[in-house]
Amino acid sequence: MSSRYKILIIDDEEVVLDSCTQILEGSNYEIATAPEGTQGLHLVHEFQPDLMFVDLKMPGISGIEVLQKVHEFDPTIVTVVITGYATVSSAVEAMKQGAYDFLPKPFTPDEFRLITKRGLERRRLTLETIALRREKEILRENFAAIVSHELKSPLGALQQSLYLLESELLPNLTESQKHLLERMKIRVDDLIKLIISWLRVLSVDINKIRESFVPISIPELITKATESIDPHAVRKDIEVVTSIEGTIHQIEGDEGSFVEALVNIVVNAIKYSYPGSKVLIKVKNDDTFVEISISDTGVGISTQELPRVLGGFYRGESGQAIEDSHGLGLTISCRIIEAHNGTISVESEIGRGTTFVIRIPALAKKV
Ligand SMILES: Nc1ncnc2c1ncn2[C@@H]1O[C@H](COP(=O)(O)OP(=O)(O)OP(=O)(O)O)[C@@H](O)[C@H]1O
Ligand SMILES: [Mg+2]
Repeated sequence: MSSRYKILIIDDEEVVLDSCTQILEGSNYEIATAPEGTQGLHLVHEFQPDLMFVDLKMPGISGIEVLQKVHEFDPTIVTVVITGYATVSSAVEAMKQGAYDFLPKPFTPDEFRLITKRGLERRRLTLETIALRREKEILRENFAAIVSHELKSPLGALQQSLYLLESELLPNLTESQKHLLERMKIRVDDLIKLIISWLRVLSVDINKIRESFVPISIPELITKATESIDPHAVRKDIEVVTSIEGTIHQIEGDEGSFVEALVNIVVNAIKYSYPGSKVLIKVKNDDTFVEISISDTGVGISTQELPRVLGGFYRGESGQAIEDSHGLGLTISCRIIEAHNGTISVESEIGRGTTFVIRIPALAKKV
């Protein structure tokens, strides 16, 4: 960023333009002035000010219109309106249009200097926030690239070699060597799964999900989710039962990511349940929402842990008891549900089971 802040003043009174320029003379600012709105707007594009003062009452294009156009062009430019006929209502209207502050005429040099200082401080903070956001984004992208190239690829090669080694050596291995090799394979598979989950956490982009929204039907998505989970459930002797109450409204959503969010929650219900038990998925309409609840009668979550479970990246006590647990599944699901403008809550009792409830705004028309 240039070290010299740029200030633009738009006012039809020459005396105001001259006195403002004089007041700021000697400060390390670049100053431009315009006697009316159209020229002022032209300068906004050419000069690209950090801070702009605009008179509300000018012949031709009004100060409010100038404000609207400036904010459309660049909402980060800090704008201050000069109110000649000290009416509160016009200043309020300008603030509603996004003006940062207002300066009633007549003003003293000190008042003008003070408001300039505050306006530029605001601009500095805004630019800093934008830069930090960009930095975070770059960091996220670089981290994803490092994780996938530097970790996932070599681990993939290692996994491949282990499988090859196993097929060649198996007949000559002792039982304990076989056991060792099996452990190695499991640990490598687990690490690869962890990296894939991490990459998925990094790649969940709420705006991208929203871009692919179409009307979708929750019961159909539940069928897709439960079909993909079936092998898990069978392996653990758990029955997944779905109950649909009445005709369910469609929702606006992205099918792929919504199924993913459901799968993570239902997989948890299976993972943290006892063999031979049931997982119940209930769907119903509730006013203008579709509500999905996923209940299990498993190990449950303690009251101390409960508030942290939906906070992201949390691997609870029940998770720590299981190797294949990374505390990432719910982080992904929560982001996907947020992208669908929905909410998720959880109730649980240790030793008795857990219920997750998802609520998504319904599309008005029934299907
Ligand atoms: N149905 C459930 N019953 C009991 N505990 C649960 C349940 N669902 C989630 N938890 C707790 O919440 C924690 C976070 O769940 P989350 O799905 O994010 O991670 P995880 O299951 O540990 O690992 P993964 O990233 O593989 O999904 C778990 O570690 C577990 O302690
Ligand atoms: Mg999980």
